[in-house]
Amino acid sequence: MSTRPVSRFKAVIFDLDGVITDTAHYHYLAWKRLADSVGAPFDEAFNEQLKGVDRMGSLALILARAPRAYTPEEQRALADAKNGHYQELIATMTPGDLLPGALRALEDVRAAGLKIGLASVSRNAFTVLDRLGIRDRFDDVVDAATVVNGKPDPEIFLTAAAHLGVPPADCLGVEDAAAGVASIKDAGMVAVGVGRPDVLYRADRVIPSMEAFRLEDY
Ligand code: BG6
Ligand code: MG
Repeated sequence: MSTRPVSRFKAVIFDLDGVITDTAHYHYLAWKRLADSVGAPFDEAFNEQLKGVDRMGSLALILARAPRAYTPEEQRALADAKNGHYQELIATMTPGDLLPGALRALEDVRAAGLKIGLASVSRNAFTVLDRLGIRDRFDDVVDAATVVNGKPDPEIFLTAAAHLGVPPADCLGVEDAAAGVASIKDAGMVAVGVGRPDVLYRADRVIPSMEAFRLEDY
């Protein structure tokens, strides 16, 4: 009698904001304040389009709805203001801010002998990992500053797989954003969506939260 392996994958690559911790809400609050300051409409539905999108890309989407155009210098100042506010919000984070199920997922993947990667376009990712006390749980964390094409481009997930030395087809990607799921799928990986099925329709499977993540389901 043969025993079935826990997983057919060799690595799991996680997004950070909205998957491991609820920083997606802090990004929302910081962008909302900025959008209000320039008179651009902003709500939860529009915010879905920003999830997983890098800082300047998100700003461009917001300013496209503002009543006037902004010079590159003004745009840089607005991006810096948003980041300053975001950094104030994450400054008090602790390991208690891990989302339910996230730490168990990391432990299960490790116990099953798979590699663990992090693919976040956030330039604050290392700070957040340190505040959560989990940086050493990852075999590789892609440095967002080295990524040329952000999500939905597959570059960041392909980079994580290359760093881990695992073919993309042997990787499972975990994401809360539509742009992130697109990045995983276009990298040739299997995608787990964490959130709403109508938003994450390209995912191979959608779970409501990390509490429902079971490595043996994939
Ligand atoms: C992503 C978030 O992880 O990082 C986005 O989903 C955010 O909302 C992006 O804009 C960039 O983050 P940062 O920290 O570099 O401004
Ligand atoms: Mg995310």
